[in-house]
Amino acid sequence: MAVCTEKTLWSFMFLLTGAVGQTVVYPFTSTCAVRGSTATLPCTFTPRKSFSDGQREVPLKIIRVRWCKNHPVCQGSTPSVYDSNPANIDPRYQYLGDKKTNCTLQIRDVQQRDNASFRFRMEADHPEGHFTNKTGVNVTVVDGSKMRIISSSDDKKLSRGENVTLLCASDCTFHQLEVTWFKDGHALSDTGSSLELDNVTAEDSGNYTCALKSIMETLSEPYSLQVEAEERQPVDGNLPLIVGVVSGVLLAVIAFILFIFIIRRKLAAAEHQRADGGETEPKHPHDIYSSIQEESHRQETSRAVEDVSYASVQFRHSHERSRHVEEVDNAVVYSSLASRG
Ligand SMILES: *[C@@H]1O[C@H](CO)[C@@H](O)[C@H](O)[C@H]1NC(C)=O
Ligand SMILES: *[C@@H]1O[C@H](CO)[C@@H](O)[C@H](O)[C@H]1NC(C)=O
Ligand SMILES: *[C@@H]1O[C@H](CO)[C@@H](O)[C@H](O)[C@H]1NC(C)=O
Ligand SMILES: *[C@@H]1O[C@H](CO)[C@@H](O)[C@H](O)[C@H]1NC(C)=O
Ligand SMILES: *[C@@H]1O[C@H](CO)[C@@H](O)[C@H](O)[C@H]1NC(C)=O
Ligand SMILES: *[C@@H]1O[C@H](CO)[C@@H](O)[C@H](O)[C@H]1NC(C)=O
Ligand SMILES: *[C@@H]1O[C@H](CO)[C@@H](O)[C@H](O)[C@H]1NC(C)=O
Repeated sequence: MAVCTEKTLWSFMFLLTGAVGQTVVYPFTSTCAVRGSTATLPCTFTPRKSFSDGQREVPLKIIRVRWCKNHPVCQGSTPSVYDSNPANIDPRYQYLGDKKTNCTLQIRDVQQRDNASFRFRMEADHPEGHFTNKTGVNVTVVDGSKMRIISSSDDKKLSRGENVTLLCASDCTFHQLEVTWFKDGHALSDTGSSLELDNVTAEDSGNYTCALKSIMETLSEPYSLQVEAEERQPVDGNLPLIVGVVSGVLLAVIAFILFIFIIRRKLAAAEHQRADGGETEPKHPHDIYSSIQEESHRQETSRAVEDVSYASVQFRHSHERSRHVEEVDNAVVYSSLASRG
């Protein structure tokens, strides 16, 4: 996208200025570069086609292109970082252009001494065709300037279905188009400076980081994004409550049925005992209570249930005692249910 617009802009400028005279256009006049990285300084130029010597039009041809550092005109014997004539000797400076329209310079393994103004100069087969644009490109060399992530949403907690855009930015303006995005340390396929997350789900939750491509020194601090598992909708919000009430009622019904069943069984057993002569006289209620406690401590819950219901049936006459025992009863029935479920 960005490359496309740049090209369109450049072609447009070419058309505009081509007829007037020579031009050198730098799409940006200042940029940041991380030490050790590769910086590209885009540049286009329009040479003068011909000039009039008073009698006739003399055609012009570009015979030499060069880039200089910290020199306003870059002419004559000024040292160049790149010179087509003779061919440049420092391999760190690569001329990606030509002698017609493209004057792009690439600086590899950027050094502190590249913190400078760079200017392009074209030289023709006649001095009338020589030209330097004095504006130049200022390169600011930084040591591992960290990127940071800016979100389109103020909230780090998002609801499912929302859209969010994360931007990889820096105080220093890097004109590097490619960025590497990471989610929980794993590289994503996106390479733009912004990461669009549409219709987010819980799977989009995680720690995001970004860095300029191949320059891990610029790795940002993590940006933690959380997407709530459930959509924040009133209907959905009531669901856990409904489930809770229904299961609660169901549990109570089961407990009641079980309770009735045990009582009936115990009543029948007591009836049977009494018919047999009832030689096993029940102990004092207090003893029974403590023995129940002991038993439930031994986790013989089903036996304890039987004893408790037995006690509550047998000692109904002692009002206070029986209420006390019934409380224990409920607790034991519940614990036996819980251990079964
Ligand atoms: C010099 O470069 C600047 C920045 O790219 C540009 O705006 C300007 O038009 C250029 N001038 C000429 C004469 O090429
Ligand atoms: C580039 O740097 C020089 C000084 O080093 C300054 O005079 C000039 O204004 C700067 N140009 C831009 C476009 O920042
Ligand atoms: C100039 O050349 C470089 C390297 O081949 C290329 O990336 C860039 O797009 C070219 N610029 C234009 C305006 O064609
Ligand atoms: C070089 O770096 C210094 C800061 O260290 C900055 O002030 C200066 O403008 C830079 N020079 C150029 C030409 O970019
Ligand atoms: C999210 O973006 C998609 C398109 O990518 C759009 O259809 C949808 O309406 C957006 N949703 C919100 C909540 O803005
Ligand atoms: C969002 O995703 C859900 C499933 O995850 C899908 O049903 C829905 O149509 C999507 N909405 C948009 C706007 O893409
Ligand atoms: C994200 O980072 C935080 C701490 O910075 C950590 O507690 C959390 O577990 C991380 N999340 C993931 C998905 O790694």
